[in-house]
Amino acid sequence: MFPFLFVVLLSLSWRINASALPVQEFLHCLSLRSQNSSIAKLVYTQNNSSYSSVLKSAAQNFRFTTPSTPTPLAIVTPLHAFHIQAAVYCCRKHGLQVRTRSGGHDFEGLSYTSAYEVPFVVIDLVNLRSVRVNVEKATAWVESGVTVDELYDEIARKSKTLAFPAGICPTLGVGGHLSGGGYGLLFRKYGLGADNVIDARLIDVKGRILDKKSMEEDLFWAIRGGGGGTFGIVLAWKLKLVAVPANVTVFTVRKTLEQNATKLVHRWQSIAHKFPKEMYPSIAIARVNSNEDEEKMTIQASFTSMFLGSIEELIPLMEEKFPELGLVKEDCLEMSWAESNLYTSLYILRSPSETLLNRNQKSSISKTFFKAKSDFVKQPIPEPAFEGLWSKFYEDEAKSASMLFVGFGGKMDEILETEYPYPHRAGNLYTILYTVDWEEKENINSEKFMSWMRRVYNYMTPYVSQSPREAYINYRDLDIGTNKINNSKRSYAKARVWGVKYFKNNFNRLAKVFGGLFRKYGLAADNVIDARFIDVKGRVLDRKSMGEDLFWAIRGGGGGSFGIVLAWKLKLVPVPANSIAHKFPKEIHSSIAISRVNSSEEKGKMTIQASYGICGLWRENGRDS
Ligand SMILES: Cc1cc2nc3c(=O)[nH]c(=O)nc-3n(C[C@H](O)[C@H](O)[C@H](O)COP(=O)(O)OP(=O)(O)OC[C@H]3O[C@@H](n4cnc5c(N)ncnc54)[C@H](O)[C@@H]3O)c2cc1C
Ligand SMILES: *[C@@H]1O[C@H](CO)[C@@H](O)[C@H](O)[C@H]1NC(C)=O
Ligand SMILES: *[C@@H]1O[C@H](CO)[C@@H](O)[C@H](O)[C@H]1NC(C)=O
Ligand SMILES: *[C@@H]1O[C@H](CO)[C@@H](O)[C@H](O)[C@H]1NC(C)=O
Ligand SMILES: *[C@@H]1O[C@H](CO)[C@@H](O)[C@H](O)[C@H]1NC(C)=O
Ligand SMILES: *[C@@H]1O[C@H](CO)[C@@H](O)[C@H](O)[C@H]1NC(C)=O
Ligand SMILES: *[C@@H]1O[C@H](CO)[C@@H](O)[C@H](O)[C@H]1NC(C)=O
Ligand SMILES: *[C@@H]1O[C@H](CO)[C@@H](O)[C@H](O)[C@H]1NC(C)=O
Repeated sequence: MFPFLFVVLLSLSWRINASALPVQEFLHCLSLRSQNSSIAKLVYTQNNSSYSSVLKSAAQNFRFTTPSTPTPLAIVTPLHAFHIQAAVYCCRKHGLQVRTRSGGHDFEGLSYTSAYEVPFVVIDLVNLRSVRVNVEKATAWVESGVTVDELYDEIARKSKTLAFPAGICPTLGVGGHLSGGGYGLLFRKYGLGADNVIDARLIDVKGRILDKKSMEEDLFWAIRGGGGGTFGIVLAWKLKLVAVPANVTVFTVRKTLEQNATKLVHRWQSIAHKFPKEMYPSIAIARVNSNEDEEKMTIQASFTSMFLGSIEELIPLMEEKFPELGLVKEDCLEMSWAESNLYTSLYILRSPSETLLNRNQKSSISKTFFKAKSDFVKQPIPEPAFEGLWSKFYEDEAKSASMLFVGFGGKMDEILETEYPYPHRAGNLYTILYTVDWEEKENINSEKFMSWMRRVYNYMTPYVSQSPREAYINYRDLDIGTNKINNSKRSYAKARVWGVKYFKNNFNRLAKVFGGLFRKYGLAADNVIDARFIDVKGRVLDRKSMGEDLFWAIRGGGGGSFGIVLAWKLKLVPVPANSIAHKFPKEIHSSIAISRVNSSEEKGKMTIQASYGICGLWRENGRDS
């Protein structure tokens, strides 16, 4: 959502004539900035033979690894925070966008490519891999480049009965994942990953390192679910660990249409959100060949669950709540919670049993060409609507499409919508993740698959959340809106259209936090009404001649990025001089400077002068002490 905004803060979208120069300047800046030369060994430019393998290493969606995809000028793989600080500084200085990558799972590739034609640098946190678990306090510090399975393994190594409630896919990067919420097997019991973050180390746009104490409360709120790549670069997270039994139970029961799949799915909708919190209920739906007739296609619904308890406890529970499924002991397996993630990540796969615990196995949306979307369901979908949906899965493009339904309720009903940026809480029966993927040789026809996905999404409109049609920020979907860098008012109005889909009413607060970053790093945009500016070609421009886009960008886009500002024309705000500063609207950054001066009233006498200022413009208001 905001990455474009953050990006503007860090940099510019201004084309500098000689495009070969920025990377040289950037490298030079880096070497100056990091007192010793160690950082040079962590930078891959397009000339480097490892460049493309490093770029692709964590790219999960191959749709963004084709020759036509914009690539970074350089990839920096920092080992320490000060490497990131140097990279952020030099990007700002030389007008390059920053893309931060942790695990590279962004559905739209935003951590390693750019939808806009602007020069950018990838800061890849692949080397920030430490996890420190404190068993007594049930906390852990984890760096952003750590994958969730590394996190779960390290916790399990220290304690068999501690866990962390985040996502399922083993290769997810903690950095992007927690930035957008993060749900998995424990979310009905303990909430999202982001709900369980108790501190963080963040590098802000100025390159400063902040933690919970030193950052503003709103910023700490925003980074826990407000979307990756927006508010700074999170170096590390402090997590509250949660209790799990040493063994949990998992099962998968598969039903085709011939085995009443439609009825079961229909029934599940009204049950899943009422299961005990200890249960993670999901259904993966895909088309398969019929058992009875290999020529014939059918729809298969795979009911996969994890239960925090034993098989003995689960069977009677299912008999009571969902007897139609006919779960038996033989369907169930007991294993550690960490292992159950690996088990569950296979439900999306076509052939699960033989590949259990094989980490090289791909899911349908990792290391492949794919498009995905999300929905939230608040009313059970009628059976005939499902039948219409199945027919879409018989189309050619859907040969390896799937849907994942995940039951809500439990802890999600107890957390207020405003407590964290992630707003999809009470009132949801379940969420849907739609995916379609294809092979390299089919990629010339990618539009075919994309439009299939859009047709399915349109078809579902009457049955899912409305006004707004909600979407999950971690399942980023550029179809629901993008922003081109454009004039600020229009951009805000445009961003709101899809901002409320991801964040509902929290979008306003996020926008304010973001606006706050602007105020901090530039003049309050609202108070700048004109400027005289020298552009890269040496022309002197004012608001009229520079155009609204550039005028928008220079008001907070970071000094040194766009050209040289000669003068600002400010709208002044009348302010009484007394102690009312705390009551000013947030838009006003006010301050008072105290100094000793000669009294204007009585020669030879000194007095104290208070000067108050707005946005650095000082006005005198001398007064005898
Ligand atoms: C195969 C697969 C399975 C998935 N399973 C789940 C699941 O079970 N549950 C779930 O909730 N989601 C799931 N997701 C979605 C996933 O949570 C998001 O894609 C998430 O953003 C991935 O984080 P990442 O670090 O791997 O991705 P990246 O692509 O590295 O980052 C994603 C976004 O965050 C930004 N970012 C990255 N690191 C940082 C940082 N340190 N500080 C600030 N911003 C940063 C990036 O710039 C980018 O905008 C899945 C995705 C895939 C592809
Ligand atoms: C210089 O490099 C070494 C390792 O090569 C590192 O330990 C040290 O912290 C670096 N110092 C600075 C100031 O960059
Ligand atoms: C590529 O970059 C890496 C990291 O900076 C460096 O170690 C390596 O020597 C470079 N290789 C070539 C062929 O330039
Ligand atoms: C890459 O190589 C070309 C040709 O060898 C050279 O002109 C260019 O300056 C190099 N760029 C970088 C960033 O090293
Ligand atoms: C499907 O459901 C009907 C009644 O709802 C039942 O009679 C039939 O046995 C079921 N079929 C299967 C294969 O479970
Ligand atoms: C967990 O389950 C496994 C496999 O069933 C079993 O071997 C192991 O003893 C169980 N551990 C505990 C603590 O119950
Ligand atoms: C800005 O918005 C206007 C109106 O929506 C549009 O015509 C123009 O092309 C946009 N500019 C950019 C750079 O996207
Ligand atoms: C204040 O007065 C002293 C002596 O009268 C003079 O030297 C000094 O320059 C004055 N300072 C200012 C800021 O006018």
